[in-house]
Amino acid sequence: MRRRFVAGNWKMHGSLASNQRLLKDVAVGAAKVSGVDMAVFVPFPYLSQAQTLLAGSSVSLGAQNVCEFHQGAYTGEVSAQMLQDFACHYVLVGHSERRAFFGESDAQIAGKFCVAVSCGLQPIICVGETLAQRESGQTESIVSAQLDAIIQRAGIAAFESATIAYEPVWAIGTGKTASPAQAQRVHEAIRAQLASFDSDLSERVKILYGGSVKPENSAELFSMPDIDGGLIGGASLVADDFLAICLEASR
Ligand code: PGA
Repeated sequence: MRRRFVAGNWKMHGSLASNQRLLKDVAVGAAKVSGVDMAVFVPFPYLSQAQTLLAGSSVSLGAQNVCEFHQGAYTGEVSAQMLQDFACHYVLVGHSERRAFFGESDAQIAGKFCVAVSCGLQPIICVGETLAQRESGQTESIVSAQLDAIIQRAGIAAFESATIAYEPVWAIGTGKTASPAQAQRVHEAIRAQLASFDSDLSERVKILYGGSVKPENSAELFSMPDIDGGLIGGASLVADDFLAICLEASR
């Protein structure tokens, strides 16, 4: 039985003042959630604040990006080791916004994944199709190619310490959620792809769904056999909504 995992991706939102309240509320509320792994992915400048305010709670800390190089003359980048200085446990890799707005390629994303794993950070690798790709029947081939780029570079064993997030691009921040059946179909295909390399491991890897998950639709999504939790954007900025989704995951 895979333990459920709910991760809040704050994206480029927050301020010292607003984070203070949100982190405190999430840390306090998390005490009422059992049997679910919880994490928040905050912008880099707030890692220290989050580390302090989440100390002693069951909520883990994650970053939204990492450099594919270990250290050196890479102005503006943040290394995996720096993230570890702030007790980061997780890092998002290959979010569709990074792919679309910052031109991250499959190869670069695979590099980030490898650096994270080699430094002991757990990557959450994000995959998903655009609306045009879905409408032209390419959903599974796109998702499978995105995942394959990682498997070929990192090896299947690296997925022992990784999580996959299926996030259809058309569902992110749009209020349009994939139906539970649509999401389940892709999650099942992802697990089958992993199983073609290692069937035992494929049963252990968590596959999260992301894209307009809200308290109202989370129970139905989490009831699907291959959906092991959620990667939550907008709703993770409201403590009550994020906690309500975490509670649904604990049922
Ligand atoms: P959303 O974002 O929940 O706001 O759709 C999800 C994500 O991008 O991780």
